[in-house]
Amino acid sequence: MKVVILKDAAEVAKYGADIFIKQIKRKPDSVLGLATGSTPVALYKELISAYQSGRVSFKNVSSFNLDEYLGLTGTHPQSYRYFMSQQLFDHIDIEKSQTAVPPGDAEDPFSACEQYEHNIKQKGGIDIQLLGIGRNGHIGFNEPSSSLMSRTRVKTLTRATIDDNARFFGPDEYQPHLSITMGIGTILESKKVVLLATGANKAEAIKATVEGPLTAACPASALQMHEHVVLVIDEAAASQLADVDFYKHIEMENQKLLERLGRD
Ligand code: PGA
Repeated sequence: MKVVILKDAAEVAKYGADIFIKQIKRKPDSVLGLATGSTPVALYKELISAYQSGRVSFKNVSSFNLDEYLGLTGTHPQSYRYFMSQQLFDHIDIEKSQTAVPPGDAEDPFSACEQYEHNIKQKGGIDIQLLGIGRNGHIGFNEPSSSLMSRTRVKTLTRATIDDNARFFGPDEYQPHLSITMGIGTILESKKVVLLATGANKAEAIKATVEGPLTAACPASALQMHEHVVLVIDEAAASQLADVDFYKHIEMENQKLLERLGRD
Protein backbone atom coordinates (compact mmCIF):
# COMPACT_ATOMS: atom_id res chain seq x y z
CA MET A 1 0.00 0.00 0.00
CA LYS A 2 1.20 3.48 -0.74
CA VAL A 3 0.84 5.64 2.38
CA VAL A 4 1.27 9.38 1.88
CA ILE A 5 1.49 11.29 5.15
CA LEU A 6 0.88 15.04 4.94
CA LYS A 7 0.77 17.87 7.46
CA ASP A 8 -2.96 18.53 7.66
CA ALA A 9 -6.40 18.11 6.11
CA ALA A 10 -5.84 20.94 3.60
CA GLU A 11 -2.77 19.21 2.17
CA VAL A 12 -4.63 15.89 2.05
CA ALA A 13 -7.45 17.49 0.02
CA LYS A 14 -5.01 19.10 -2.43
CA TYR A 15 -2.97 15.93 -2.92
CA GLY A 16 -6.11 13.82 -3.36
CA ALA A 17 -7.67 16.29 -5.81
CA ASP A 18 -4.47 16.33 -7.88
CA ILE A 19 -4.67 12.56 -8.31
CA PHE A 20 -8.23 12.93 -9.67
CA ILE A 21 -7.30 15.86 -11.93
CA LYS A 22 -4.37 13.95 -13.42
CA GLN A 23 -6.61 10.92 -13.96
CA ILE A 24 -9.21 13.00 -15.84
CA LYS A 25 -6.53 14.68 -17.94
CA ARG A 26 -5.12 11.29 -18.89
CA LYS A 27 -8.58 9.87 -19.59
CA PRO A 28 -11.27 12.55 -20.07
CA ASP A 29 -14.07 9.94 -19.99
CA SER A 30 -12.91 8.47 -16.69
CA VAL A 31 -15.40 6.61 -14.53
CA LEU A 32 -15.04 7.99 -11.01
CA GLY A 33 -16.12 6.26 -7.82
CA LEU A 34 -17.19 8.94 -5.36
CA ALA A 35 -17.79 9.09 -1.63
CA THR A 36 -19.71 11.18 0.88
CA GLY A 37 -18.89 12.08 4.49
CA SER A 38 -17.06 15.12 5.82
CA THR A 39 -13.55 14.13 4.65
CA PRO A 40 -14.12 14.35 0.85
CA VAL A 41 -15.73 17.80 1.08
CA ALA A 42 -12.40 19.67 0.97
CA LEU A 43 -11.25 17.53 -1.98
CA TYR A 44 -14.48 18.39 -3.83
CA LYS A 45 -13.82 22.09 -3.15
CA GLU A 46 -10.40 21.67 -4.77
CA LEU A 47 -11.99 19.99 -7.80
CA ILE A 48 -14.55 22.78 -8.11
CA SER A 49 -11.86 25.46 -8.05
CA ALA A 50 -9.78 23.49 -10.57
CA TYR A 51 -12.85 23.41 -12.84
CA GLN A 52 -13.55 27.12 -12.33
CA SER A 53 -10.00 28.04 -13.22
CA GLY A 54 -10.11 25.88 -16.37
CA ARG A 55 -7.63 23.27 -15.14
CA VAL A 56 -10.05 20.39 -15.64
CA SER A 57 -13.37 19.58 -17.28
CA PHE A 58 -15.80 16.88 -16.20
CA LYS A 59 -17.80 17.02 -19.45
CA ASN A 60 -17.09 13.42 -20.41
CA VAL A 61 -16.69 12.00 -16.91
CA SER A 62 -19.21 9.64 -15.33
CA SER A 63 -19.49 8.62 -11.70
CA PHE A 64 -20.83 6.02 -9.30
CA ASN A 65 -21.25 6.79 -5.63
CA LEU A 66 -20.43 4.24 -3.01
CA ASP A 67 -23.62 4.20 -1.02
CA GLU A 68 -26.98 5.70 -0.10
CA TYR A 69 -29.41 5.50 2.80
CA LEU A 70 -32.25 3.12 2.14
CA GLY A 71 -35.56 4.91 2.61
CA LEU A 72 -34.49 8.41 1.51
CA THR A 73 -35.30 9.94 -1.86
CA GLY A 74 -32.61 11.89 -3.69
CA THR A 75 -34.28 15.19 -2.76
CA HIS A 76 -34.04 14.52 0.99
CA PRO A 77 -31.40 16.86 2.45
CA GLN A 78 -29.69 13.96 4.24
CA SER A 79 -29.59 11.74 1.18
CA TYR A 80 -26.22 11.18 -0.40
CA ARG A 81 -27.61 12.14 -3.83
CA TYR A 82 -28.50 15.54 -2.37
CA PHE A 83 -25.08 15.80 -0.70
CA MET A 84 -23.29 15.12 -3.99
CA SER A 85 -25.34 17.76 -5.83
CA GLN A 86 -24.61 20.33 -3.13
CA GLN A 87 -20.93 19.54 -2.64
CA LEU A 88 -19.87 18.80 -6.22
CA PHE A 89 -22.22 18.09 -9.11
CA ASP A 90 -24.00 21.48 -9.09
CA HIS A 91 -20.67 23.30 -9.37
CA ILE A 92 -18.93 21.47 -12.21
CA ASP A 93 -19.75 20.59 -15.83
CA ILE A 94 -20.46 16.89 -15.26
CA GLU A 95 -23.60 15.60 -17.03
CA LYS A 96 -26.05 14.90 -14.20
CA SER A 97 -27.39 11.93 -16.20
CA GLN A 98 -23.91 10.41 -15.98
CA THR A 99 -23.82 10.52 -12.18
CA ALA A 100 -25.09 7.45 -10.35
CA VAL A 101 -25.93 7.12 -6.67
CA PRO A 102 -27.62 3.92 -5.43
CA PRO A 103 -31.38 4.54 -5.40
CA GLY A 104 -32.43 4.87 -1.75
CA ASP A 105 -36.08 4.93 -2.79
CA ALA A 106 -35.99 1.82 -5.00
CA GLU A 107 -39.19 -0.21 -4.79
CA ASP A 108 -37.13 -3.37 -5.00
CA PRO A 109 -33.77 -2.59 -3.39
CA PHE A 110 -32.40 -6.08 -4.07
CA SER A 111 -32.79 -5.85 -7.82
CA ALA A 112 -31.59 -2.21 -7.67
CA CYS A 113 -28.33 -3.54 -6.20
CA GLU A 114 -27.90 -6.01 -9.06
CA GLN A 115 -28.69 -3.28 -11.56
CA TYR A 116 -26.06 -1.01 -9.97
CA GLU A 117 -23.38 -3.68 -10.37
CA HIS A 118 -24.52 -4.20 -13.96
CA ASN A 119 -24.32 -0.47 -14.71
CA ILE A 120 -20.75 -0.25 -13.37
CA LYS A 121 -19.73 -3.15 -15.61
CA GLN A 122 -21.49 -1.59 -18.63
CA LYS A 123 -19.31 1.49 -18.17
CA GLY A 124 -16.18 -0.65 -18.21
CA GLY A 125 -15.62 -0.51 -14.45
CA ILE A 126 -14.49 2.25 -12.13
CA ASP A 127 -11.16 3.87 -13.03
CA ILE A 128 -10.53 5.49 -9.68
CA GLN A 129 -12.45 5.10 -6.43
CA LEU A 130 -12.42 7.69 -3.66
CA LEU A 131 -12.93 6.40 -0.12
CA GLY A 132 -13.24 7.77 3.39
CA ILE A 133 -12.95 5.44 6.35
CA GLY A 134 -15.13 5.01 9.41
CA ARG A 135 -13.68 4.94 12.93
CA ASN A 136 -14.54 1.24 12.87
CA GLY A 137 -12.68 0.69 9.59
CA HIS A 138 -15.74 0.65 7.36
CA ILE A 139 -15.48 1.65 3.69
CA GLY A 140 -18.72 2.67 2.04
CA PHE A 141 -21.26 1.16 4.43
CA ASN A 142 -19.34 -2.12 4.60
CA GLU A 143 -19.32 -2.47 8.34
CA PRO A 144 -17.04 -4.83 10.30
CA SER A 145 -17.93 -8.48 9.51
CA SER A 146 -18.77 -7.60 5.89
CA SER A 147 -17.69 -10.29 3.46
CA LEU A 148 -14.44 -9.29 1.80
CA MET A 149 -15.93 -10.52 -1.51
CA SER A 150 -19.26 -8.69 -1.10
CA ARG A 151 -21.06 -6.95 -3.95
CA THR A 152 -23.54 -4.05 -3.95
CA ARG A 153 -26.24 -4.97 -1.46
CA VAL A 154 -28.47 -3.85 1.40
CA LYS A 155 -26.54 -3.43 4.64
CA THR A 156 -27.54 -2.67 8.20
CA LEU A 157 -25.52 0.11 9.82
CA THR A 158 -23.73 -0.45 13.11
CA ARG A 159 -24.65 1.54 16.18
CA ALA A 160 -21.26 3.32 15.93
CA THR A 161 -22.01 4.51 12.37
CA ILE A 162 -25.55 5.55 13.26
CA ASP A 163 -24.19 7.56 16.21
CA ASP A 164 -21.40 9.11 14.10
CA ASN A 165 -23.92 10.25 11.48
CA ALA A 166 -26.63 11.36 13.92
CA ARG A 167 -25.09 14.85 13.86
CA PHE A 168 -26.44 15.38 10.35
CA PHE A 169 -30.06 14.63 11.35
CA GLY A 170 -32.42 16.83 13.36
CA PRO A 171 -33.65 15.52 16.74
CA ASP A 172 -37.06 14.55 15.29
CA GLU A 173 -35.79 13.54 11.89
CA TYR A 174 -35.99 9.93 10.70
CA GLN A 175 -32.47 8.45 10.49
CA PRO A 176 -32.28 5.30 8.39
CA HIS A 177 -30.53 2.23 9.77
CA LEU A 178 -30.23 0.54 6.39
CA SER A 179 -28.25 1.42 3.31
CA ILE A 180 -27.40 0.27 -0.18
CA THR A 181 -23.63 0.05 -0.53
CA MET A 182 -21.12 -1.16 -3.05
CA GLY A 183 -19.49 -4.28 -1.66
CA ILE A 184 -15.85 -4.72 -0.74
CA GLY A 185 -15.49 -6.97 -3.80
CA THR A 186 -16.97 -4.16 -5.94
CA ILE A 187 -14.51 -1.64 -4.49
CA LEU A 188 -11.56 -3.98 -5.00
CA GLU A 189 -12.38 -4.16 -8.73
CA SER A 190 -11.78 -0.41 -9.18
CA LYS A 191 -8.59 0.11 -11.12
CA LYS A 192 -7.23 2.54 -8.52
CA VAL A 193 -8.29 3.41 -4.98
CA VAL A 194 -7.61 6.65 -3.10
CA LEU A 195 -8.50 6.58 0.59
CA LEU A 196 -8.47 9.83 2.57
CA ALA A 197 -8.30 10.06 6.35
CA THR A 198 -7.73 13.05 8.60
CA GLY A 199 -7.79 13.54 12.35
CA ALA A 200 -6.78 11.53 15.38
CA ASN A 201 -10.16 9.78 15.59
CA LYS A 202 -9.18 7.84 12.44
CA ALA A 203 -5.72 6.82 13.71
CA GLU A 204 -6.80 3.44 15.08
CA ALA A 205 -8.67 2.50 11.88
CA ILE A 206 -5.67 3.55 9.77
CA LYS A 207 -3.32 1.46 11.89
CA ALA A 208 -5.59 -1.58 11.46
CA THR A 209 -5.89 -0.92 7.71
CA VAL A 210 -2.16 -0.64 7.02
CA GLU A 211 -0.44 -2.69 9.68
CA GLY A 212 -3.16 -5.01 10.95
CA PRO A 213 -4.10 -8.41 9.58
CA LEU A 214 -6.39 -8.80 6.59
CA THR A 215 -9.68 -9.22 8.37
CA ALA A 216 -13.41 -8.57 7.99
CA ALA A 217 -13.15 -6.96 11.46
CA CYS A 218 -11.54 -4.01 9.64
CA PRO A 219 -13.13 -3.87 6.16
CA ALA A 220 -10.54 -1.34 4.91
CA SER A 221 -7.79 -3.92 5.53
CA ALA A 222 -9.08 -5.66 2.36
CA LEU A 223 -7.30 -2.87 0.46
CA GLN A 224 -4.03 -4.66 1.28
CA MET A 225 -5.07 -6.96 -1.59
CA HIS A 226 -5.43 -4.12 -4.11
CA GLU A 227 -2.70 -3.46 -6.62
CA HIS A 228 -3.05 0.33 -6.84
CA VAL A 229 -4.14 1.88 -3.59
CA VAL A 230 -2.94 5.11 -2.05
CA LEU A 231 -3.83 6.26 1.45
CA VAL A 232 -3.59 10.03 1.74
CA ILE A 233 -3.63 10.87 5.43
CA ASP A 234 -2.60 13.65 7.77
CA GLU A 235 -0.13 13.40 10.66
CA ALA A 236 -2.96 12.96 13.18
CA ALA A 237 -4.48 10.01 11.30
CA ALA A 238 -0.98 8.52 10.97
CA SER A 239 -0.19 8.93 14.66
CA GLN A 240 -0.64 5.25 15.57
CA LEU A 241 1.36 3.79 12.67
CA ALA A 242 4.55 2.02 13.73
CA ASP A 243 6.48 2.75 10.54
CA VAL A 244 5.76 6.42 9.78
CA ASP A 245 9.40 7.17 8.89
CA PHE A 246 9.52 4.26 6.45
CA TYR A 247 6.32 5.39 4.66
CA LYS A 248 7.68 8.93 4.39
CA HIS A 249 10.98 7.59 3.09
CA ILE A 250 9.21 5.49 0.42
CA GLU A 251 7.22 8.50 -0.74
CA MET A 252 10.37 10.64 -0.96
CA GLU A 253 12.18 7.97 -2.99
CA ASN A 254 9.11 7.63 -5.27
CA GLN A 255 9.01 11.36 -5.90
CA LYS A 256 12.73 11.45 -6.67
CA LEU A 257 12.38 8.58 -9.13
CA LEU A 258 9.37 10.16 -10.88
CA GLU A 259 11.24 13.48 -11.17
CA ARG A 260 14.23 11.71 -12.65
CA LEU A 261 12.00 9.97 -15.18
CA GLY A 262 10.07 13.19 -15.90
CA ARG A 263 6.76 11.60 -14.90
CA ASP A 264 4.03 12.75 -12.54
P1 PGA B 1 -16.24 11.05 7.56
O1 PGA B 1 -16.83 9.61 7.23
O2 PGA B 1 -15.47 11.49 6.36
O3 PGA B 1 -17.46 11.90 7.81
O4 PGA B 1 -15.38 10.91 8.77
C1 PGA B 1 -16.02 8.66 6.60
C2 PGA B 1 -16.79 7.37 6.44
O5 PGA B 1 -17.60 7.03 7.31
O6 PGA B 1 -16.55 6.69 5.43
